[in-house]
Amino acid sequence: MIKIRNLFKSFGSLQVLKGINLDVAAGETLVLVGASGSGKSVFLRSVLGLSPPDSGSVMIDGLEVTKLSEKEKLSKLSNTGMLFQASALFDSLTIGENVGIYLKEHTDKSEEEIKELVHDALKRVGLNDVEDKMPSELSGGMKKRASLARLIVYRPQYLFYDEPTTGLDPMTGSMINELIVQIQNDLKATSIVVTHDPTTTLYVSDKIALIENGQILYVEETDKFMQISHPTVDFFNKITGHDYKNMMRKKNG
Ligand SMILES: Nc1ncnc2c1ncn2[C@@H]1O[C@H](COP(=O)(O)OP(=O)(O)O)[C@@H](O)[C@H]1O
Ligand SMILES: [Mg+2]
Repeated sequence: MIKIRNLFKSFGSLQVLKGINLDVAAGETLVLVGASGSGKSVFLRSVLGLSPPDSGSVMIDGLEVTKLSEKEKLSKLSNTGMLFQASALFDSLTIGENVGIYLKEHTDKSEEEIKELVHDALKRVGLNDVEDKMPSELSGGMKKRASLARLIVYRPQYLFYDEPTTGLDPMTGSMINELIVQIQNDLKATSIVVTHDPTTTLYVSDKIALIENGQILYVEETDKFMQISHPTVDFFNKITGHDYKNMMRKKNG
C-alpha cells in the first residue's frame, strides 16, 4: 500500500504542501482533485522523490521512499511508474525503442524478448505497427497511449498518473480512462491519478481525495465524495448534469 504522512514541500517562500496525509490501500485507485496550482503535480513528484519533499514520510510497499539515494530509487522503485502530463517520449528514439528502453537498460532480457513485450504492450493500448515510427509522426492521443505502453511494459504494481486525459479530445480521453481501468484490473496495481477531468475522476476512482491549501481536505469513496458540500463537488455535479452515478464505472463484486 501507499502511506503518506506529514508531507511538506516549499519553493522559496511558497509553501505548496503543508502536511499531506494520505493512504491508498492495495489494489485501490485514488483520484486526487483540486484547483489548478493547488500542488497536485508537486505532490506526485514529491511522492516519487523526483522532487524530494522537505519533510514527511512516503511509504510505498513498505519502503521509505524519502530515505532512498538516487541509485536506490532506480533499483528499489522498479515496481513503480508514472505517466507524466507531457508524454515525455524521447524524440530521437522510435516508439518501439521508447517503450522498450526500461527493459533494455534495467533488465537482462534478450532483444527478442523485449521486442515481443513491446509489441504486446503497444497492442494492449490499441497501437499496431507503430514500433518503427518516430514520436513526431504520432498524434497527441497516440503519444499518450505509447507513453502508457512504456509504463505497463514492465508491469509495475504502483502507478501514478498526472492529468492523463488533459489536452486530448473526449473520445481519446475516454479511451485512456478505459485503459487505466483495464491496466488496473490486469496488474492489480495500486494507483494515484491526478486530474481535473470529472469524467476521469468518476470513471476510474475507488476513492477521491481533494487537496486544498496544501492539505488533504477530504478523502472518501466516490459515491460519498459526491455528497460533500464543496465548490469542486458542486462543479462535478453540474458538469455531469447531476447524474454522476451514470458516469461511475460499474464495479463487479
Ligand atoms: N519547480 C518549481 N519551482 C517553483 N514553484 C513551483 C515549482 N513547481 C511547482 N511550483 C508551484 O507550486 C504550485 C503548485 O503547482 P502544481 O503542483 O504544478 O499545481 P497543479 O495542482 O496544477 O498540478 C504552483 O504555484 C506552482 O507555480
Ligand atoms: Mg499539474
